[in-house]
Amino acid sequence: MNDHARRVYDSILGLQCDADNPTPLVRLNRVIPFKHTQVYAKLEWFNPFGAVKDRVAANLLADGEARRSVGPNQKLVEPTSGNTGMALAMLANVKGYTLTTPLSSEIPLEKRTMLRFFGADVMELQDTLCPAPGAPEGAIAKAMELGDRPDFHMLNQYVNEANPDAHYKTTGPEIWRQTGGEVSHFAAGLGTCGTITGTGRFLKEQRPDVQVLGVHPQDGHDIPGVRSLRQLEQTQLYRPDEYDHVIEVNDETAYKLCLRLNREESITAGPSCSMALAGALQLVPDEPGNLLVVIFPDNAFKYASSFVKHLPGMAAAAPGATTKSSPLLEKMRENVRGNENLTIDVDAAHDQWQAEKPFVLDVRPRDQYDDAHVPGAFNIPLAELGDDSQYLAVLPRDRDAPILSVCQRGNASLSGLLFLKSLGYRNVRSMNGGTLAWREKGFATDSK
Ligand SMILES: Cc1ncc(COP(=O)(O)O)c(C=O)c1O
Repeated sequence: MNDHARRVYDSILGLQCDADNPTPLVRLNRVIPFKHTQVYAKLEWFNPFGAVKDRVAANLLADGEARRSVGPNQKLVEPTSGNTGMALAMLANVKGYTLTTPLSSEIPLEKRTMLRFFGADVMELQDTLCPAPGAPEGAIAKAMELGDRPDFHMLNQYVNEANPDAHYKTTGPEIWRQTGGEVSHFAAGLGTCGTITGTGRFLKEQRPDVQVLGVHPQDGHDIPGVRSLRQLEQTQLYRPDEYDHVIEVNDETAYKLCLRLNREESITAGPSCSMALAGALQLVPDEPGNLLVVIFPDNAFKYASSFVKHLPGMAAAAPGATTKSSPLLEKMRENVRGNENLTIDVDAAHDQWQAEKPFVLDVRPRDQYDDAHVPGAFNIPLAELGDDSQYLAVLPRDRDAPILSVCQRGNASLSGLLFLKSLGYRNVRSMNGGTLAWREKGFATDSK
């Protein structure tokens, strides 16, 4: 027997969400500009397969089974941007079906790999990030071609009313119950539009003045799972007359807020969460009695490659940037670390920086330097120090000139110091604690 109170279940299917077992509603406290309006995030990655689409996949299958278009050993095909596919793949495993997913090769590698890992037959095609129904060679066309074959069945989340119906039956009632009927505004990112259409319908039936807010990305966006206005116009479940407002949010705003949600609220939100939140924050007034619920479709872990593209400081060090450690180099670095004539703590470095204007050599990878550096610091990443052309023109001519070697935490700068010493510089110090310690002290930094 499934027991939600003790969270003990007969099988993974017992975890599927409904009003008795809702996904959590978590209040946002730090990234919200309001005094009065309360904002809650509905964390959809608490669904059993990790996303809002678990609800849709379960209902698409239940509907197909009820209509007998889905039967034993069924071969399923569905064009999917990832989350629907992942939930369908797992449900197919439970139920003895197979799943073929034609999808765009633009979809993050993490999602394509996970689909394969879960057992789906992944067909990668040249298509936009979110497959467009009109594209003749695209994922949707390929799925339809397979779906026409008698041995396959296409569930078609883009047109199937079982998609919004999943939210009408579960997401809407959960929010209504969790807020004790106090919800005044509901916001969701727009993809297939199942979430906004189904949840919005349910909430408006309970309370007609609930504001239903849709948020979409810019044209040519890079936020997986959602669609630009141009893409939405080809989406059958997009019903703008049922929503109160629709607003656009650009990639930069979405990714920056995503970082803040993770770092300031400690909520592991993915980029479509912050896109929906950013749009809603522009639309909802700060008034007593307002209670906004925003759908957070999935979490950050699938989007490492998107974060590398859109946020500074996320990239791993370039190949070769991490110098292979040799025991001799390690020994020399240790000797430097313990030598107070060769190192300087961050307060003293700051005093020296103000008084003497030393040459500051920052040896970190470029993206870390671009993010924040000691003002005036010159960047030559450690991996490029072996290249004469990088430093000959910039290092001081005077071998007695004061120089600070700086990195992220005060380790790589020890190698920077050894390098500078090897060139004959006599007045060099490695800054303990690096740029992180400098920032923690509240000292000024520049970014690029
Ligand atoms: C990550 C993510 N965000 C948002 C959405 C949008 O939800 P819907 O398709 O219900 O409009 C989806 C849907 O695929 C998604 O996967």
